[in-house]
Amino acid sequence: MNEFKLRREQLLAELPLNSMVVLFAGKGVKRSADADYPFAVNHNFAYLTGIDEPEAVLMIVKIRHRTTATLFIRDIDLALQKWNGKYISIDETKKISEIDSVTYLSAFESTFVSQLTRAGVNRLYLDLERLNLTDRPLAGEPFAKKIKEAYPALTLENIYPMIATMRTVKSDVEVEKIENCISVTKSAFERMVRNARNSNFEYELQAEFEYELKRIGAAPAFEMIVAGGGRSTVLHYVENNDALSEDELVLCDMGASVALYNSDISRTFPKSGKFTDRQKLLYNIVLEAMEAVFEKIKPGVMLKELNDVVVNLYEKRLKEIGLIKERSEISNYYYHGVSHFLGMDVHDVGQIENMVLVAGNVITVEPGLYVEAESIGIRIEDDVLVTEDGYRNLSESIVKTVEKIEALMNNG
Ligand code: GLY
Ligand code: MN
Ligand code: MN
Repeated sequence: MNEFKLRREQLLAELPLNSMVVLFAGKGVKRSADADYPFAVNHNFAYLTGIDEPEAVLMIVKIRHRTTATLFIRDIDLALQKWNGKYISIDETKKISEIDSVTYLSAFESTFVSQLTRAGVNRLYLDLERLNLTDRPLAGEPFAKKIKEAYPALTLENIYPMIATMRTVKSDVEVEKIENCISVTKSAFERMVRNARNSNFEYELQAEFEYELKRIGAAPAFEMIVAGGGRSTVLHYVENNDALSEDELVLCDMGASVALYNSDISRTFPKSGKFTDRQKLLYNIVLEAMEAVFEKIKPGVMLKELNDVVVNLYEKRLKEIGLIKERSEISNYYYHGVSHFLGMDVHDVGQIENMVLVAGNVITVEPGLYVEAESIGIRIEDDVLVTEDGYRNLSESIVKTVEKIEALMNNG
């Protein structure tokens, strides 16, 4: 049984009797005229099927005497295929998903209706993920409205929290996929940093990083940040169009995405290849905070507690160096959380506020320190697996001590 089938079994076990799940892969969003934004598959659909194909639909039914999974894929359109290439075939879909019942979308509506009227399904689960009131709705939402009108007695439920909870615990295969993304990131980072001394603009570094991703067949996991000097104190600076000067630190927040998984790494280095004493002092405080957070990671701990480790350490160190007098001033220099979950999404499913860590969670550890008055911003970010007895730093091999960064920049 492959991962996708296993996940469907897990979900089925949790579903009440007489229920149905319908999940949509989604389709490309219109950009302008006849151009669409690139298609990005719904991650919950892909998590349960392994299929990365526009317009596909998964239907799972659980009634007393049977459970079934059916996948609907686009009907073959010979004329369109001459323009857009071949659609996925039924056989290929079966092989990847381990779903025996694969058919064309033209059969979806009648199959769906017959489950409601003849099989006794009275509860319909859809993916109704929504982060805020103005989010673009997923395909499940307009479908929910249509179905509610036609079948007012049907109970509609949101499947999102159930799948999201499953997704927070990564299998070995998923961890390997994230590790692969990290190893691509490492190689691209090293190419970029070796070229840093000869680069005059932020976008030149971005080009080196992204060249290597493309060469390996990966894509950026998110809009990369290359921020020299004072630009690095703006957390989401992505313009990357300013000139770099010799005395600046450069903050890079970057990651590769491969096969629907991601990495999310930050490193900060001196443009010149050598940290000044002041830069080194501040950098080592961030590194110390990071090490302190690592030591705290284990099942049972909450992300908020990890952030407290950073704030406590900063209170001590920033007072020692005279940057602050009161704990409350830390927020002038550190204004984001230290961790988020990582997986099929860069800011992955998993509640930052309430969740207690369990083995199998993958989180980032990313303390930062931003001193606007000195045009210095530092962030160091690794990707970490929570294990039964602690943690494993998946991105340990991407250099981050002052000595190793300087050595990489100066000796290649
Ligand atoms: N790259 C976004 C973040 O670090 O959360
Ligand atoms: Mn990041
Ligand atoms: Mn991050």
